[in-house]
Amino acid sequence: MPKTIVTIVGARPQFIKAAVVSRVIRETDDIKEIIVHTGQHYDENMSDIFFDELDIPKPNYNLAIGSGSHGMNTGRMIEAIETVLETVKPSLIMVYGDTNTTLAGAIAASKMHIPIAHVEAGLRSFNRRMPEEINRVLTDHVSSLLFTPSETAVQNLATEGIKGEKVINVGDVMFDAARYYAALSENRSNILEELNLQTGDYFLLTMHRQENTDIQERLLGIFEGLKDSTCPIVWPIHPRTAKMLKSFDIKVPEVIQMIDPVGYLDMVMLEKKAKLIVTDSGGVQKEAYYHGIPSITLRDETEWVELVDLRATQVVGADSALIKAAMIEALQMKITNAAVYGKGDAGNLIVNALVYTEL
Ligand code: UD1
Ligand code: UDP
Repeated sequence: MPKTIVTIVGARPQFIKAAVVSRVIRETDDIKEIIVHTGQHYDENMSDIFFDELDIPKPNYNLAIGSGSHGMNTGRMIEAIETVLETVKPSLIMVYGDTNTTLAGAIAASKMHIPIAHVEAGLRSFNRRMPEEINRVLTDHVSSLLFTPSETAVQNLATEGIKGEKVINVGDVMFDAARYYAALSENRSNILEELNLQTGDYFLLTMHRQENTDIQERLLGIFEGLKDSTCPIVWPIHPRTAKMLKSFDIKVPEVIQMIDPVGYLDMVMLEKKAKLIVTDSGGVQKEAYYHGIPSITLRDETEWVELVDLRATQVVGADSALIKAAMIEALQMKITNAAVYGKGDAGNLIVNALVYTEL
């Protein structure tokens, strides 16, 4: 009898991470995967496009929770996930990363004594004002299998008393994704032609973190830092950021070309061919490194500390002077992949552990 596993996803980066593991699960007869989409992200270009492009099976359940405050959003998800788990009665649930969907899945399953596997366990920014930090700490402490992306994450868990066989350092699933889809994007993306961009002659920007989007001074600091760029900057804009720009009535500098969020294959192409990547995204910081492109991180700290040690990224917050200086310095950087996030086989290692671990 195959083990039944419920995968709980809801936000853009989780579709990409789950695609990697789900592809390997489909190659084994030992696991039956049921996919639950909480509906935390719901626009076509924040959700469906990833299922189509990355060949993820259509979710068995779509809870259609949508947007709301943290408490409302998480609470409604917990209730709906509990109902699904009562019906499916899985051997285990899988959650990814650090979103409200992650925490909701962890709370619902832990109260029902269903084991939890957490992919991307052990990351810490040590900034408890970030909603993601709360989500990841709480999820790690109720998980039965903790799949870490790095040695630093293993150490972070050990410091909190989480150690032993349940912690498995598999490397970063997004490294698997970057490797697999970089090749596919070559034949399946025309985004550079569509946007009239030349290889190595533009910067790529992404920004959506609550601590940037919700504070007007930080948004203004970032735009001040970028406005004199000599390269055009292309910016697939997250709906949260679009909403906040409108509410603050902020004018974006002319050098920045705003476009709607793009699918993953277009995103990989935009990343690979950029001269520089400027971002506050966890995923995009690492993808820059995997594709050998220097990056600047628009945050006050990062969980991906290895990138700073390797000088693959510079953490500059929202300070315009630091951003300007970092842009100049970044262009001198040479990025070499030092394999700090595994070998790009995290999907196989995770599925292997799921099949052979008795919980
Ligand atoms: C969430 C995660 C964040 C992750 C990001 C990935 C939490 C606390 N945050 O942030 O860790 O980095 O996803 O992208 O879970 N919206 C739309 N359409 C959509 C989705 C969102 O319009 O399809 C708008 C809504 O106005 C919504 C806002 O974006 O209120 C924020 O969405 P939400 O899912 O709460 O948080 P994110 O900022 O996307
Ligand atoms: N991404 C995408 N299209 C976009 C912007 C981002 O496909 O328009 C991908 C990006 O390549 C990365 C993931 O979404 O794989 C990162 O998600 P996001 O930045 O929303 O969240 P975070 O990683 O910060 O949690």
